[in-house]
Amino acid sequence: MDAPLLQVEGLTTHLFTDAGTVRAVEGVSLTIGRGEAVALVGESGCGKSMTALSLMRLVRPPGRILGGRVEFEGRNLLDLREEEMRRLRGGDIAMIFQDPMTFLNPLMRVGDQIAEAVRLHQGLDSRAAWRAALAALELVRIPAPDSVIEYYPHQLSGGMRQRVLIAMAISSRPSLLIADEPTTALDVTVQAQIMELLGDIRRELGSAMLLITHDLGLVAEYCDRIYVMYAGQIVEEADVGPLFASPQHPYTRALLKSTLGPDARVDAFESISGQPPDLARPPAGCRFHPRCPEALARCAHDEPPVIRPAAGRQARCWLLAQDAA
Ligand SMILES: Nc1ncnc2c1ncn2[C@@H]1O[C@H](COP(=O)(O)OP(=O)(O)O)[C@@H](O)[C@H]1O
Ligand SMILES: [Mg+2]
Repeated sequence: MDAPLLQVEGLTTHLFTDAGTVRAVEGVSLTIGRGEAVALVGESGCGKSMTALSLMRLVRPPGRILGGRVEFEGRNLLDLREEEMRRLRGGDIAMIFQDPMTFLNPLMRVGDQIAEAVRLHQGLDSRAAWRAALAALELVRIPAPDSVIEYYPHQLSGGMRQRVLIAMAISSRPSLLIADEPTTALDVTVQAQIMELLGDIRRELGSAMLLITHDLGLVAEYCDRIYVMYAGQIVEEADVGPLFASPQHPYTRALLKSTLGPDARVDAFESISGQPPDLARPPAGCRFHPRCPEALARCAHDEPPVIRPAAGRQARCWLLAQDAA
C-alpha cells in the first residue's frame, strides 16, 4: 500500500495562558491519502483550528506544539528548518481560511499578491508571474479576470475575495489543501459555489483536502472520510457513508441529530445541550461525559479506550468497549 500523503501521530499542542494551560490538541492522529477529501468536524472551541495551525507549524505563543509527528510525503514537518517549512507552506501545502481579509494585503492589487505568491514558489519572472496570476483567476472563475487583477481587495465582495485567496492557494498546484471553515462567513448560495469550485479544482489538480467545518451537510456532499473532534481529541473516524448510517460515538449521534433532524438549524450544534468544556479544565474520564445522554458510571473517571470496530473506523467510547467485551 502507498504511504499516505499526510500522517499525523499523537499531535499535542497546548496554550500556556495566564488562566492556565489550555489543552487544545491532545494526541491527535489522522491520515490523508493522495487526492482524498477528509473532514475534521466538531463544535467551535474543540481544537480544529489549532490542529490545522499545528500541522502547518503556524502556532504562535502562548501556544506551543509539545509532541507528535506530522509526516508529509515521508518527512516529519516538525523536524524541518523554518526555511524549508516556509517553502512548503503556500507551495505543496496550501491553506484557505474563513476570513480572506486577514490574509489579503489591503494595500496591494489582487494581481500583485497572487503574482508574488507565484514568484516565491515557482521562481518565475514578474511578467510570467502576472500571467500565472491571471490564469489562476480564470481557474477560480472570477468574471472579467483581466479587470479584477487590477483591483484592491476592498473592491471585491466576500465571495470574490475568497476566490482570490483560493487562486493564491492553488497557484502552486498543492498536493494538500487545508481549508479551515472556508465558507462560514459567506451566504448559502456563495458557499455552495465556493465548495463546487474547490471540488472542481481538486479534480483538476488531484489535490487532497482537509476540510475543517462545523457543517455536516458540507461534509456529506464534499468529503470521503471524516474525523470528529471533541475537546481536543479525535472521538470518531469513519468513511462518510458509514458515519452517517451508523455513528458509533454518542457525540457524533448528537451532531447528526441536530443537523439532520426535523428542526435542524443553520448552526448544526445548537440543539446539543451544554457546551464543550473549558480546555484549561477538561473533565476527567471521557471529556464528553457531562453532556452524554448515554454515559456510564465509569465514564466520569476512566479515560475511554479507542475501539476499532472495523477497518477505517474508530471511536473513543466506553459503550463500545462494553459491546466488544
Ligand atoms: N490565542 C489563544 N489563547 C488562549 N486560548 C486559545 C487561543 N487560541 C485558541 N484558544 C483555545 O484553544 C481551544 C481550541 O481553539 P480552536 O482550535 O480555535 O477551536 P475550533 O477551531 O475548533 O473552534 C479553545 O478552547 C480556544 O479557546
Ligand atoms: Mg476554528
